[in-house]
Amino acid sequence: MNLAVFISGTGTNLKALIDAEKNKYFNSKIKIIVSNKNAKGLDFAKANNIDYLISKDDDEIILALKNHDVDLIVLAGYLPKISPKLIANYKIINIHPSLLPKYGGKGFYGMHVHDAVFANKEKISGVTVHYVNENLDDGDIILQKQLDISFCKSAEEVSKEVLKVEHETLKEVIKKLEEGRCEH
Ligand code: GAR
Repeated sequence: MNLAVFISGTGTNLKALIDAEKNKYFNSKIKIIVSNKNAKGLDFAKANNIDYLISKDDDEIILALKNHDVDLIVLAGYLPKISPKLIANYKIINIHPSLLPKYGGKGFYGMHVHDAVFANKEKISGVTVHYVNENLDDGDIILQKQLDISFCKSAEEVSKEVLKVEHETLKEVIKKLEEGRCEH
C-alpha cells in the first residue's frame, strides 16, 4: 500500500512507521506526510527524504495524495477534523491513545486523554486503531491493546507508557491491512 501519514505534533508514531518500513516489517511505503502546520514531526520527513505538505486545504491535500498514488491515510496525532470529502475519497485510519469508546470524542486528544485517565485513577489504559468516519473517534475498531498503568505516578508517565504501545500497534495494523487480515 502507498501510505500518507498525517501529523500535527512530535511525530513519534510517524517515526515508528518510518523505522518499520526501513526494517521491512511491512511492505507499504510512506509516500507523503501531511501536516496542518509546521509540526516538529516534519523533521522526520526531511531527515528521511519523504515528500511532505503543509496545508489545511482539502483540494490541495487531495491533489497531493493523488499525485503520490496514496491508498491509505494514517492519522498519527493529526488534530483537525477530517472532512467528508476526504472520507469519501480515501480509506483512513486513526490511532487514539485510549481504550475507545472510553476517553474519546470532543476534547479528548493527546495529553487531555492521559490527564483524564490519571485523574480517574484508572489502572488500565490502552490504544485503539480504528477507521475514520464522520463522527470523532467513532469508526470501526481494527485493533485495541490494553496496558497496566497502575504503577504510573503522573499523567506524563501514563502518556509515555501508552506511546510505546502505540508505536507497536500502528505498524501491526498496517501489516494486518496489507495481508487483508482486517474484516472491514
Ligand atoms: C499520540 O498519542 C496519538 O495517539 C494522539 O496524539 C499523539 C501524537 O503523538 N492522537 C490523538 O489524541 C488523536 N485523537 P506523536 O506525534 O508523537 O505520534
